[in-house]
Amino acid sequence: MVVTPWEVSGKIDYEKLIEQFGTKPLTDELLRRIEKHTGQLHPQLARKIFFSHRDLDWILDCYEKGEKFILYTGRGPSGDIHIGHIVPWIFTKYLQEAFDAKLYFQLTDDEKFLINPDLTAESVLSLTYENALDIIAIGFDAKKTRMISDMKYAKVMYNVAISIAKHVTLSTSKAVFGFKDSSNIGIVFFPAMQAAPCFLESIFEKRNVPCLIPAAIDQDPYWRISRDVAPKLGFYKPAQIHCRFLPGLGKGGKMSSSIPETCVFTMDSPEVAEKKILNAFTGGKSTKEEQKKHGGQPDICSIYQYMYFLFEPEEGKLKDREAKCLSGEIFCGECKEILAERVGKFLIEHQRKREKAKDRIDEYFIKD
Ligand code: TYM
Repeated sequence: MVVTPWEVSGKIDYEKLIEQFGTKPLTDELLRRIEKHTGQLHPQLARKIFFSHRDLDWILDCYEKGEKFILYTGRGPSGDIHIGHIVPWIFTKYLQEAFDAKLYFQLTDDEKFLINPDLTAESVLSLTYENALDIIAIGFDAKKTRMISDMKYAKVMYNVAISIAKHVTLSTSKAVFGFKDSSNIGIVFFPAMQAAPCFLESIFEKRNVPCLIPAAIDQDPYWRISRDVAPKLGFYKPAQIHCRFLPGLGKGGKMSSSIPETCVFTMDSPEVAEKKILNAFTGGKSTKEEQKKHGGQPDICSIYQYMYFLFEPEEGKLKDREAKCLSGEIFCGECKEILAERVGKFLIEHQRKREKAKDRIDEYFIKD
C-alpha cells in the first residue's frame, strides 16, 4: 500500500497505517468523552470512519478546562470535487457546530499549480473559486469560517511559512514527502504553506490557541512537520483526527478523479450518477439463485460502503441491510437503485446550495 498526500494505492491496512505513521487509534473511551459534549455521536465517529488521531485527548482536556480550539482543514483545487472529499468536510461541519469552533479552510492553489504540469496560475485560481462553492455548500457557518487561497493571501501566508521553513531541513522534507532531486523547489517549500494555518489563530490572537485538523489520513505527513516545528516557534502542536478513504465504485481503491467512471462528482447530474452506480462493483453473486443460497459480501461491496460512509445514517437500517445481504434476502440491483435515488437527491440539494453560494463567497474568504 502507498499512502502519501499525492498517491493512495494498494489495499489499505488502516491498523498498519496507525503503526507506520505513529498515530493512535480512536478508542471507545475517547468516543464517550466526545459524546459527553456533543450529545450524540456523528455516524462517522460511531462507525470509526474517523479511526485515528494525534492528541485528541489533549484537545478535549483543553476544552474541558474552558480553552476553546480552532478547526483547520483544506482542499487542493486540482479539479472537480467528488463525494470522497466531502466526507471529512461533513464531519468538520459537525465539529464546528458541536464545539462552536472557528474554522480555517485552506485552498492550496499554489500546491496544485506547482505539482501539476498542466495547471496554469489562471486555471488553478478558477478551480479555487469553483471548489470554494462546493465547500460553502456543505453549510459551514460564515461567521466562524475563514477560507484562504494561498496564492491570493500570500502576503500573510508567506511570512508564516518562511518562519516554519527555516526549521525544516531538505533531508527531513525528502524523507517525509519522498521529494527527489528532480522535484521543483516550489513543491519542496510548499509543506510550510500547508503547516501555516495551524498557527494563524495563535498569531492573530497573540496567544496560543489549540488546533484540531480533521482530514483523511493521506494528509498526515504535513502534520509531522508542523508538530516538529510548533514548539520551536512557541506554538502548541496541532492535533489531528484522521478518516478512512471512501472507495471508488470499482473493485477496491479510493475514490479518485482520475477514474471518473467510478467516481461521483458533486456536479454530476442524478442521471449520470445513477449510471455509474448501476455499473458499480458489488459483493453479489453472479446469479439470483447463487445469491439466495450463499448471500452477498457487503465487506467488499462499494454500494454498501457508500451507505456506510454517507447514505444510511441510521444504524439499525444499515445493520438490517447488511444482514439481508449476507443471508441472500436482497439483491444488488435493489441496493443500487436505493443508493442511486439517495445520491440523486443529495446531488440536487447540493447543487442548489452551491448555486446560492455564489452570492456569499466574499463572506468566507480572508482578504488582505
Ligand atoms: P485534497 O484536495 O486531496 O483532499 C481534500 C480532503 O479530502 C480528503 N480525501 C478523502 N476523504 C475521504 N475519502 C476519499 N476518497 C478522499 N479523498 C480525499 C483529504 O484527506 C482532504 O482532507 N493538500 C490538501 C489540501 C489541504 C488540507 C489542509 C487538507 C490544505 N490544508 C488541511 C486537510 C487538512 C489536498 O490536496 O487535499
